[in-house]
Amino acid sequence: MTGTAVAKEAVAGQERLQLRAFVADDETRAVVEQVVGDLMIPAAAIHRGRIEDAIQLLGRLRSPRVLLVDISACELPLSAVNELAEVCEPGVSVIAIGDRNDVGLFRELINHGISDYLVKPLTPSLLQRSLLAVVEGGGQHSRQTSRLGRIVAVMGCRGGVGATTVATSLAWAIASRRHRRVVLFDLDVQFGSVALAMDLDPVHGLRDALENPGRIDGLYLDRTLVRHSESLWVLSAEEALDDPVRADRDAVGLLLHELQSKFHFTVVDLPRRMDPAVQQVLQTATNFVLVSDLSLAGMRDGMRVVQLLQATNASCPVTVVANRVGEFRTGEIPKAEFERGLGRSIDLVLPFDPKHVFPLVNAGRPVASGSGPTAAALCRLADQLCGAKSAGRGGLFAKLLARWS
Ligand SMILES: Nc1ncnc2c1ncn2[C@@H]1O[C@H](COP(=O)(O)OP(=O)(O)OP(=O)(O)O)[C@@H](O)[C@H]1O
Ligand SMILES: [Mg+2]
Repeated sequence: MTGTAVAKEAVAGQERLQLRAFVADDETRAVVEQVVGDLMIPAAAIHRGRIEDAIQLLGRLRSPRVLLVDISACELPLSAVNELAEVCEPGVSVIAIGDRNDVGLFRELINHGISDYLVKPLTPSLLQRSLLAVVEGGGQHSRQTSRLGRIVAVMGCRGGVGATTVATSLAWAIASRRHRRVVLFDLDVQFGSVALAMDLDPVHGLRDALENPGRIDGLYLDRTLVRHSESLWVLSAEEALDDPVRADRDAVGLLLHELQSKFHFTVVDLPRRMDPAVQQVLQTATNFVLVSDLSLAGMRDGMRVVQLLQATNASCPVTVVANRVGEFRTGEIPKAEFERGLGRSIDLVLPFDPKHVFPLVNAGRPVASGSGPTAAALCRLADQLCGAKSAGRGGLFAKLLARWS
């Protein structure tokens, strides 16, 4: 693939290839080309390059279902593999090709989530067997392929404290600034305001999925997710108010799992009630962000929500955001007192900042996408959640892929 073709693809960046290969020499490349043809893999790209090139390109593009990477001449193959895992979407199977016939290296690579390790000189039958085994197994034996995305649950202690503002900003910042695939999921299907806040139309279908576990199939998400930008999708609804939604806990669990297998981050804007859907999210969350004003009621409910979380998902880290601080100066509880009552410290204080917040909100833009200290603080929070920056259809192959797509 030429540089221009790659650049164009980066701009489009939409379609998911079934296979992408980065091979360093002509001999290996010829074998890969032959096997791609023999297995009739329709959407495949073969690049001249090594694992470093894969890391660079996949930071910008959608990951393929199966990735072949050349690790020969790589001095630190395991750290390169870890770096690759950082940029790859969850659910990718990786086959490494190298020149060291070393059982220790093979084991280490498998422990780091690589599905298979093939030693050069590569033969068509060896590669074909490996590809079919990886696809047939659905990657079940590999840690990398079973790697799931993170779930960041955001809840406000009281109405209007800014949970949606924080959730939309985090999702936007993680997607736009850290280039991760993010879905922003509004679990309040009647009163949720995520779609409004992102200037999108909600679509039908979410209610159905929340009420019926059998509803979620491979195509379901494609029909229900609304794309906001290259790497940010929104899942929301605007259901009638006279017909209560009865979310099924298993259905919510399945939906979350499906989202986790496709996105690096699922940011859930939670309604303030403890129904089965919310309980399921709290139990599955990998991070919890609690938003409150500095009010007595916020302190009390914050404490109760954190206690509930600890009882159901004790290892889930909690981030406390005090928002709209300074709005009602005289009625606010001092920060230290609030922290004492809550039983933990506040991680981020966001001032009441109508000058910067309202123009963005009224324009349907996330607050983090603007300027000023509030936007900067929300971007920092998104960075903290991300952690430190790391230094088609055809033959048998496609049929097997379709089983787990
Ligand atoms: N730091 C801030 N400074 C000024 N206004 C803010 C700030 N944070 C949020 N707001 C405004 O407060 C209002 C409520 O915010 P938001 O909708 O995010 O709250 P919420 O907790 O999600 O509310 P709900 O309980 O309705 O879900 C919005 O108009 C928003 O623009
Ligand atoms: Mg809200």
